[in-house]
Amino acid sequence: MKLTRRTLTLAMAAASLGALLPATALAQKKIVLGFSQVGAESEWRTANTESIKSAAKEAGIELKFSDAQQKQENQIKAIRSFIAQKVDVIAFSPVVESGWETVLREAKAAKIPVVLTDRSVNTKDDSLYVSFMGSDFVEEGRKAGRWLVEKMKDQKGEVNIVELQGTVGSAPAIDRKKGFEEIIKADPKFKIIRSQTGDFTRAKGKEVMEAFLKADGKKINVLYAHNDDMAIGAIQAIEEAGLKPAKDITIISIDAVKGAFEAMIAGKLNVSVECSPLLGPQLMSAVKDIKAGKALPKRIVTEETIFPMEVAAKEFPKRKY
Ligand code: AHR
Repeated sequence: MKLTRRTLTLAMAAASLGALLPATALAQKKIVLGFSQVGAESEWRTANTESIKSAAKEAGIELKFSDAQQKQENQIKAIRSFIAQKVDVIAFSPVVESGWETVLREAKAAKIPVVLTDRSVNTKDDSLYVSFMGSDFVEEGRKAGRWLVEKMKDQKGEVNIVELQGTVGSAPAIDRKKGFEEIIKADPKFKIIRSQTGDFTRAKGKEVMEAFLKADGKKINVLYAHNDDMAIGAIQAIEEAGLKPAKDITIISIDAVKGAFEAMIAGKLNVSVECSPLLGPQLMSAVKDIKAGKALPKRIVTEETIFPMEVAAKEFPKRKY
C-alpha cells in the first residue's frame, strides 16, 4: 500500500483506538451455548453429558450446563434463564415430548436459535427449532421386535412379554413401544401381558420387575426394557426370584452401554439395541454452523446397530460408552 499522509493518519487513529479498547473486546468473542440436560438417570445419560461437556471444551465453546433432574419445569426455567442471559444458541434434550410451545416461542422472539438433541418435541410449528439430532427411537423398537420374532420363530405356544417403559411421555418411551408393537403384532402368539414405566432407572426397573414377577412369575417368557439400566435392575429382581436371566426369561434392552455388555458377557442379557449418546461433537459443529449463518438439516439421524450376546465379548473393547 502506498503510504500517504491520509493512510498514515488513519493507521495512527486505529492504533490509538486499539490501545483504548480492553483486550477482551479485541479478542474474538466465544460462542455461548446454553444446554439443558434431562438429568442423570442412566449410564447413557452420563455418557451423553460427558460427550457434550468435552466436545464444548474441544470446540472452544462456552457451555452453560443445567441438569433438570428429570423435571420439565426445571428445563423450562433453565431455557428462560438462557434467554435472559442472551446466549448465542440454546440446545436441550426434552424430558417429555409435549408442553414446549410457549418457551420455544419466547426463544424465537429473542432470536435465539434452538437445537434439539437426543429427544424431539411434539409441535406443529417446526420453525420453533433449527434442527433435531439423535436416534430414530421407533426404529430401535422395531429392531428389538425383529430380533424377538426371529429368535422365537419356532416357538409354538404363546410368548408372554413384560415391558419396562421409559419415562412417561418421553419420546423414547412412546416410540420404542410403538416400533416394537408394530413388529410383534404380525404374530398373535406374542402378547404383552404387563407394561409399566421404570423411568429409565435401575432402581425403578428392579422394583417394577419384582412386581411383575410377583403377579405372573413363571408365566413370563420375555422382558422388553426400553433401556439397559432398567434391564440391569430387572436382572437383579429375576435372580432374587430364583430364576435365570436370559435363560428362563429372554431379555431385550436398548442403549448398548458398557453395563449391558458386561451383563451379556456374563450370560444375563440376550441383546441390546444400540442408541448412541455421543452427540457432543455433532452438536458443537451445528452450533458453529448456525453462528456462521449456514443452513442445517431439520433432522440428523444417528446410525446404529444391534448387539446380541454372542458378539458381546468381541465388541466390548471397542465400546466408547
Ligand atoms: O433419550 C435416550 C434415553 O434416555 C436412553 O435410552 C435412556 O437410557 C436415557 O435415559
